[in-house]
Amino acid sequence: MIIIANWKAYVEDRGRAEKLLALSKKLARTSENTLVLAPSAPFLGLLAHNNKSRVAFAAQDVSVTTGGAKTGETTAQMYASLGAAYALIGHSERRALGDTEADVAAKVSHALACSLTPVLCVGEQERDREGRYLSTIREEITSAFAPLTQKERMKVIIAYEPLWAIGKTADSAIRSDDLSEMALYIRKVLAELLPGKNASRVPVLYGGAVEPGSARELAGATSIDGFLVGHASVDERSFAALVKELS
Ligand code: PGA
Repeated sequence: MIIIANWKAYVEDRGRAEKLLALSKKLARTSENTLVLAPSAPFLGLLAHNNKSRVAFAAQDVSVTTGGAKTGETTAQMYASLGAAYALIGHSERRALGDTEADVAAKVSHALACSLTPVLCVGEQERDREGRYLSTIREEITSAFAPLTQKERMKVIIAYEPLWAIGKTADSAIRSDDLSEMALYIRKVLAELLPGKNASRVPVLYGGAVEPGSARELAGATSIDGFLVGHASVDERSFAALVKELS
C-alpha cells in the first residue's frame, strides 16, 4: 500500500518535523508499505536533503507557473531538485483557495515534466441522492487527464478525498461499501481514458478522516491501493499505529 502523510500546515516547528521523519524512517524499515511524507516546502527541503532512507517525499502542491519573474512561487522543478518524488495536486484545500480545473491540469503537466508523480486529489462536497457527486469525480479526473498523453496518464495516482470526511474523526470516514463503489466508479472513468488493462494499473488512494482502526477496515474491505492521511499523520502514536496496522 502507499501511505502518504499530508502534514498540511500542522507542522510548523523544525524539531517536530525531524522527529516525525525519524519515526517514519523507523517504520519504513519494517513495513512493506511505501511511505511518503508531504511536509511544507521548507521542511521538505530540509528533510529530503541527503535522504537515504526508504521514505519518499511529496510536495503538498506545485505552482501553476514555471520558473521566472514570479515572486513567491514554488515550482515543480524546485521540488524535484530538492528530492521530492511525488506532488499532491488539486487538494480540496487548494481548490478552496482558487485552483480551477485548468490550474489543476497545468500543475499535473508541470509535475510530470519534472518527473514528479502527480497525486491528483478529487472529491465531492456532499453526497446528493441524485448521484451528481459522481459527475464531480468524473469531471475532475477527465479535465486533469485531457492534456496528457496515454503514457503520462499512466503515471498519475488518484486520491479520492470526499470533502465531507476531511479533517473529521474516524467515525465520519466513508463506509467501506461506499468506498468500494467509488473505487469501482473511478476505475470505470479511468478505463474510458486509458485503453486495455492500463486503467487497472493506476493506483487509487482514499483520504478523509483516516485514523488507525478505520484504515485497517477500509483496506481490508475495498480494492484501494493506499491512503492519504492528514491529521493522524502528524500524531506520532496514531501514525505509528496506522502504518503497523496496514503492514
Ligand atoms: P484528514 O485529511 O486525514 O485530516 O481528514 C486528509 C487530507 O486532507 O488529505
